[in-house]
Amino acid sequence: MKNALAIAIAALFLSGNAAVAAEPQVERQQSMKSVGQAMGTLAKTAKGEIDYDATAVIEAFAAMNTAAVNFIDQFPEGTETGHETEASPNIWSDRAGFEEAVKKFDTDTANAVIAAPHDIAAFRAEFGKVAQNCKTCHETYRVSKK
Ligand code: HEC
Repeated sequence: MKNALAIAIAALFLSGNAAVAAEPQVERQQSMKSVGQAMGTLAKTAKGEIDYDATAVIEAFAAMNTAAVNFIDQFPEGTETGHETEASPNIWSDRAGFEEAVKKFDTDTANAVIAAPHDIAAFRAEFGKVAQNCKTCHETYRVSKK
């Protein structure tokens, strides 16, 4: 009896959570916000505006990789509009191309984490490769409304 009650409460809690789960449009904007934040640290490092901090750099690359890994699933059919999305219709008309762009971002950020650059020269090489992804993907798959 106690167990049944516990299960019922757990089920209620879980379904309650599902109801408040973010919409995919919001989730992917959150993902990109975290990418943008990580980019702030990396860009400042590249410009020499902050001291080289290997841990912070690797964490920033890792945060980008986390966003990349989950990104594809955040564009289901039916989320082409809404929540002021800046997702381009190209994502749905050219799914293969979009998935390739996400995969490249995933690979480049994962490689940057693995490379674990411990000085600015090694960092710049990885940063260059990672940063290219932003422009390339945004040009085709994002419609900036700002
Ligand atoms: C594989 C494609 C892809 C890559 C790579 C990519 N982005 Fe994005 N980005 C998008 C899409 C699509 C949106 C629009 C999402 C939406 O509004 O639904 C976006 C939106 C954004 C936003 C706006 C988030 C908000 O507040 O709504 C920022 C900031 C951003 N990207 C930064 C970056 C940076 C920096 C990089 C590179 C390190 C990057 N992105 C790499 C596809 C990509």
